[in-house]
Amino acid sequence: MNEKEFVTLALHNVLNEYLTPEQISPLLEKPKSADHGDLAFPAFSLAKVMRKAPQLIAKDIAEALDANAFEKIEVVGPYINFFLNKGNVSAKTLTAILSDENHYGDAHITGNTNVPIDMSSPNIAKPMSMGHLRSTVIGNALANILTKIGYTPIKINYIGDWGTQFGKLIVAYKKWGSEEAVQANPIQELLRLYVDFHEEAEKDPSLEDEGRFWFKKLEDGDEEATHLWKWFREESLKEFQRIYDILGVEFDSYNGESFYNDKMDAAIQLLEEKNLLKTDQGAEIVDLEKYQLNPALIRKSDGATLYITRDLASALYRKKEYNFAQALYVVGNEQSIHFKQLKAVLTELGCDWAKDIHHVPFGLITKDGKKLSTRKGKIVLLEKVLAEATTLAKQQIEEKNPSLENKDLVAKQVGVGAVIFHDLKNDRMNNFDFSLEEVVRFEGETGPYVQYTHARCSSILRKTNWQKNTDQLELNDSDSWEVIKLLKDFPETVKRAADKFEPSIIAKHAIQLAQAFNKYYAHVKIVNDDSEQNARLALVYAVKTILAEDLRLLGIEAPEEM
Ligand code: ARG
Repeated sequence: MNEKEFVTLALHNVLNEYLTPEQISPLLEKPKSADHGDLAFPAFSLAKVMRKAPQLIAKDIAEALDANAFEKIEVVGPYINFFLNKGNVSAKTLTAILSDENHYGDAHITGNTNVPIDMSSPNIAKPMSMGHLRSTVIGNALANILTKIGYTPIKINYIGDWGTQFGKLIVAYKKWGSEEAVQANPIQELLRLYVDFHEEAEKDPSLEDEGRFWFKKLEDGDEEATHLWKWFREESLKEFQRIYDILGVEFDSYNGESFYNDKMDAAIQLLEEKNLLKTDQGAEIVDLEKYQLNPALIRKSDGATLYITRDLASALYRKKEYNFAQALYVVGNEQSIHFKQLKAVLTELGCDWAKDIHHVPFGLITKDGKKLSTRKGKIVLLEKVLAEATTLAKQQIEEKNPSLENKDLVAKQVGVGAVIFHDLKNDRMNNFDFSLEEVVRFEGETGPYVQYTHARCSSILRKTNWQKNTDQLELNDSDSWEVIKLLKDFPETVKRAADKFEPSIIAKHAIQLAQAFNKYYAHVKIVNDDSEQNARLALVYAVKTILAEDLRLLGIEAPEEM
């Protein structure tokens, strides 16, 4: 039973004539300040039925409550403030964490558990952008969080390996490229060709037609076009893999846009059967006026398919293949109209499961307040960022802990963890300006700070050689209480993060727990041979366990020493 259920039950014993437990529970509030207790019940809503002033009702209820169940019950105006029995709660929480270890907070669900997560999905022939980094780390964290509460995520890297841009790239390569140059430096060279194409096409619009022509050839399986496309694709995937290895992210599927090339006809046929296709200047569209959306362009007049055509085919495929409970698309907020259109078209097709599709949008990473765009070649190279963060981590370690073993490994865990944490700590919809100095700052609300606190706990346990022992785990002081409350809230925190598709809820929990523990560490002598010593060390163990679990859920390692 958690504290809310506990207080609900106590109140229901007194109020059973007036309110059900289901009505009481949502009325309970968490007071802003610890001086007002752990939970508060406002008596306003009873004033009508009880025909009394809320202040008087609060007083009456407080007198009728079982005072022994709490450390203290206080009435302040119309509020009843509940102070929980710290000793009991701490013993229960620590016992649970000591026995469940990193499974503390695990949950199970019944029925269909599959959740395909469309994530990362960079475009071949272009460097992976900071936006793709966001999609990768948010998607990966969501997969970990959903797994913890019983879902079965399927991580899908929907590679952008199809579309008119490949027609353009083939044209550019044939005109201005060479095999040697691509071989030597694939992504950079392909990007140069892409950028050149757009510059030249501004002067000579007929290049656009040539690009469309070559994409059509590619769609029709032309040998030369297919050969070049395959080669561009392989070289690009090799480069992406390097970054995924550094980040420690794995995928269950690399079915990208091209995988659906032979599945789009069936999707278009479905639209035809339901009479949903309209011809508009030779192109085929689905009218979405009743959703207050622009029409979805399904097929261009030259027969070429579009981004949404492939997403339509892939959604139908995923439902058939995985019979999902929910399907997530972790994609930047700038594509929100696209996903609204996709859901609308599926709804028109009579797919009632369209409601289970969730676009999980996120904000932009900007540079000096401006959007980063690949087209003009203005991009932050992700690999450079990760490498630089690791170098800075190494410098810190050399200064602070020169005798540490595996310095390079730990530096990588800290540097990469810093970049991931920086991305995940804010609400995902917030835009944030990118500056390398900011990312690798090791003080304040950062990944390294959480990792450092975890390593501090490890060190205390190592030095005292503490052995797990569940005797006497009552802690009654207010310093430990702040830590205990956060430990106790962990299972609820994980559920909230899963419900809102919001990894930042976990990151914030990690920061708060680290801060509360460091305050505790500064105020309380942990190793002090007295009757509470075992409880204090158990608390250290529990904090270490839950910080490591917070970090694991975010996709970040927790070194024992740093
Ligand atoms: N490749 C796309 C891009 O970089 C993202 C793909 C997102 N996923 C999807 N199913 N549309 O913008």
